[in-house]
Amino acid sequence: MSTPCPRVIAIDGPAASGKSTLGSELASRFGYDFLDTGMLYRAVTLAAIEQGVPPDDAACAEFVRHIRIEIRRGNPSRVLVNGVDVSDRLREPQVEEQVSLYSALPSVRAALLPLQREFAAAGRAILAGRDIGTVVLPDAPAKIFLHASTEARAARRSLQANSWGVVQDSAGAARDILRRDSIDSSREVAPLQPAPDAIVIDTTERPFDAVLALALEALGCAAG
Ligand code: DC
Repeated sequence: MSTPCPRVIAIDGPAASGKSTLGSELASRFGYDFLDTGMLYRAVTLAAIEQGVPPDDAACAEFVRHIRIEIRRGNPSRVLVNGVDVSDRLREPQVEEQVSLYSALPSVRAALLPLQREFAAAGRAILAGRDIGTVVLPDAPAKIFLHASTEARAARRSLQANSWGVVQDSAGAARDILRRDSIDSSREVAPLQPAPDAIVIDTTERPFDAVLALALEALGCAAG
């Protein structure tokens, strides 16, 4: 008899560690909705850039009070700003470059927290991000933290960037990733770190099937 999967799964890890690939695969096998929470930070960043709001906490505190961010549940879930689905614009270079600055602001994090908790409370949900297991859902029944070397992540990010139509070699991707890691890990609010009860999986040398098998074992649910 197969064990049922936990109702909510938190997946954290640095950029390009494989969170979305794993989250999306688990979601499609077991019927979860999947939210890549980085999209929420990217959506605020895009809107702020377009409105000329700088990455300053006081300015953003005012700004986030006047925009409406919504999540359309699914796998993957989509993100709307003031009723407009911006999901396909969130990898634009201007967003990529600035998102770590906006996502480090306490006002932005506070505004996005309830949305993530509501998403988790409203049904079977997998959320991927940086602080899901530590801050957003510290009581989540299942937490996975993915690690991978900078080189491996840079090689993946460069391939992903090409598929998004952005030309970026591994060296450029490595520079971006190191810069983002440093901001994400050193910020004062919700820095990137594994929850004490997270299962840590290193994806550097593991093919995706092996990562999935470890995750399924950790979650205690049988393969679908
Ligand atoms: O995962 P990503 O590259 O789309 O994340 C974009 C930015 O948002 C990145 O700088 C980290 C930040 N982020 C965060 O601070 N907390 C989350 N739960 C998800 C993303």
